[in-house]
Amino acid sequence: MAPTQRIRKAILPVAGLGTRFLPATKAMPKEMLTIVDRPIIQHVVDEARAAGIEHFIFVTGRNKTVIEDHFDKQVELETTLSERGKLEELNMLNDLLPKAGQTSYTRQQSPKGLGHAVWCARDLVGNEPFALLLPDVLVQAPDKGCMAQMMDIYNKTGGNILAVEEVEPDQTSNYGVVDVLKNECGTMKINGMVEKPAPRTAPSNLIIMGRYILQPEIFDILATQTEGAGNEIQITDAMKTLMNDQEFYACPYEGRSFDCGSKIGFLAANVAFALSRDDIGPAFRDALRKLI
Ligand code: G1P
Repeated sequence: MAPTQRIRKAILPVAGLGTRFLPATKAMPKEMLTIVDRPIIQHVVDEARAAGIEHFIFVTGRNKTVIEDHFDKQVELETTLSERGKLEELNMLNDLLPKAGQTSYTRQQSPKGLGHAVWCARDLVGNEPFALLLPDVLVQAPDKGCMAQMMDIYNKTGGNILAVEEVEPDQTSNYGVVDVLKNECGTMKINGMVEKPAPRTAPSNLIIMGRYILQPEIFDILATQTEGAGNEIQITDAMKTLMNDQEFYACPYEGRSFDCGSKIGFLAANVAFALSRDDIGPAFRDALRKLI
């Protein structure tokens, strides 16, 4: 069924401590680590904006104020760029800047899990469907970004959409895993999900990748959601309850994902994104060849 409400807002949970990247993340948020020349969080905001998102809700924590600064004007810098005639850089900064009033920030006061982080944004989202993008995951898509591909499905089906991808069976216990049913019309309906299943108990090898479109009824469920896997409040558990009343569809998106929360994924993302750039790709390829 075609949806009645368009997706205008996105939640970006950025409260995590980033302990896997110490000492780099001692004073700097992990979301500000760069993939080539832009912070991870900028890549994710760009993906959301390309999908039509107009308002970005950051669920932050202590030591994350630099994210707020990043999405604000930097008057001194802009004046200097302008005086020096560096118009290309100036225009780039202006293009990337969200418009006034398009960002909101709230704090997750204690690390109680992803479900709790999403719930912290309930008043900022209000009673409308929203996108949720986990900044640990970056997607390199050939044509349309991952969230834009999800919007295409949402515009036909409405309901809730989860980006999914296949992993090796021995990896499923690190993720939320879904069970899907393929319909004749090509849509993939989700009929089960579980967060971090014990080894060899997963319903499939299709994981929840880190991009969601959700209906606002999830917030009422999250309000009373008890702790699940890892003793944290899990969004997957709340979605499972919502599945009793609403449809969930899987989006097996086109593209390649990188887990930038791990060192290997982060480094691989840097290599992949650098190689795909017209300006530095060829020179970087030569430099890489000399290294390996
Ligand atoms: C979270 C979600 C999980 C999802 C994963 C994707 O887990 O809870 O369902 O599969 O992100 O990266 P986390 O990585 O925070 O443990």
